[in-house]
Amino acid sequence: MIPHLKETLTLKHARSMLDAPRFLLDTARQSGPAFKVGVGPVTLTVIAEPTMLQQVLQKDARHWGRGTAVDPIRPLLGNGLPLSDPPLWLTQRRTMQPSFHKARGPQWVHVMREMAARSLDALKPNEEISTKTLMMHIARDIIVRAMFSQSLGDIRPFDDALGEVEAYVSNALNPAKLPLWVPTPTHVRFKRSTVFLHAEIQRVIEERRKLAEPPVDLLTMLIQATDPETGIGMSDQQLRDEVMNIFFAGHETTANLMTWATYLLAQNPSALERLHAEVKSVLGSRLPEPEDLPKLTWLGCVIRETLRLYPPAWMFARQALESTELDGMKMNKGDVVLVLPWITHRLEKNWANPDAFDPSRFEAQSSTDAGSWKYTYLPFGAGPHVCIGNHFALLEATVVLAMLAQRGRLEPTKPEAVKPKMGATLYADGGLPARLVAG
Ligand code: HEM
Repeated sequence: MIPHLKETLTLKHARSMLDAPRFLLDTARQSGPAFKVGVGPVTLTVIAEPTMLQQVLQKDARHWGRGTAVDPIRPLLGNGLPLSDPPLWLTQRRTMQPSFHKARGPQWVHVMREMAARSLDALKPNEEISTKTLMMHIARDIIVRAMFSQSLGDIRPFDDALGEVEAYVSNALNPAKLPLWVPTPTHVRFKRSTVFLHAEIQRVIEERRKLAEPPVDLLTMLIQATDPETGIGMSDQQLRDEVMNIFFAGHETTANLMTWATYLLAQNPSALERLHAEVKSVLGSRLPEPEDLPKLTWLGCVIRETLRLYPPAWMFARQALESTELDGMKMNKGDVVLVLPWITHRLEKNWANPDAFDPSRFEAQSSTDAGSWKYTYLPFGAGPHVCIGNHFALLEATVVLAMLAQRGRLEPTKPEAVKPKMGATLYADGGLPARLVAG
């Protein structure tokens, strides 16, 4: 039986629920890993309990979908994979899966190291920078180059548009927010920036379709991709939606993973020292090659432990597509459950000493697949919707963090001020100011 918290959250609480990771965690630690909570007129069911997660995400996945819960971000992201349900989702997943196959890795490693070197080489020793901004730029350059084989020309209009879109998206799934038709300044800016981003991507797609010999990149792969069952490819509109989704799903998440890793390493000198020794022995000072990456085993553990403590996709939702049951309890069509890896990863029941950074937990087991962890670990989700870009993300974090270790370490200049914040992703409030220190 899932307890219903007596108190219904007021609008003020609802904001703090999104703002305060600690509030959610403390509630789960006190009330158990599943609880219902009223937010204004809506009742939400938070589930962080592994058997329920398996039920919703895998065993009964056909009863649980995106539904209308994601409608507030549909004007931006359309009907891309993360926002669609079968039958469209199934067709799209079958069509797109081969473009994200692990075997594509070597091609991406070359893009990743080139883009990482560009930003890392520009760092001046001891100069204070925002780690989050650095990692966002690297991750953005990587996804843009992997997708379009080119860099963004004048970056400013994109940065402005992305900032305006992010301001809306970070609060979009809050059930207590104002509807998009209310012309608040944030809503007006969001709509304007969405039109700009859609038009830019549409233009690139149209130009690409005209090329006789297109470059081998994600965009060409997606243009040429067809559903293996029907042989049909994507329309321009569907392609635009998928490109938008890959861009949004694929860069801020990875940037936050890399930001949190530098923070955790700075707090744990012995883990950092071991990482430097590993990078020195595997790579020395040369660029990483694809075959080097599996040898960076400690770095792999550091990345997995970072994803446990600070899962960038801290929360995602499912809506009942029809009446169903959850853990023996009746759920009505339209009911929303919130999946919170942030809580699941930090409960004593699932992980010993859950708040401690201990990458060695992952030494015996290198998978990030939720099934192998019995649904106690799901940074990339689980079941049919599991992150299609998980190999890409792990590869990227390995390349960038190894190349950073070759240059030294990022030392936070205000470590005491670091607070996790929940927006569209889990990020370090204040951006984690730091300076590059050699060695
Ligand atoms: C550390 C980095 C990343 C994290 C933590 C992450 C996390 C997730 C999670 C939790 C889901 C499942 C959401 C759900 O079930 O509702 C997901 C789905 C998805 N991710 Fe990622 N992701 C990351 C990187 C990427 C990258 C690099 C790409 C693309 C290049 C990407 C593209 C997608 C897409 C398209 C989906 C939707 C899949 C579907 O519904 O079939 N992600 N991601």
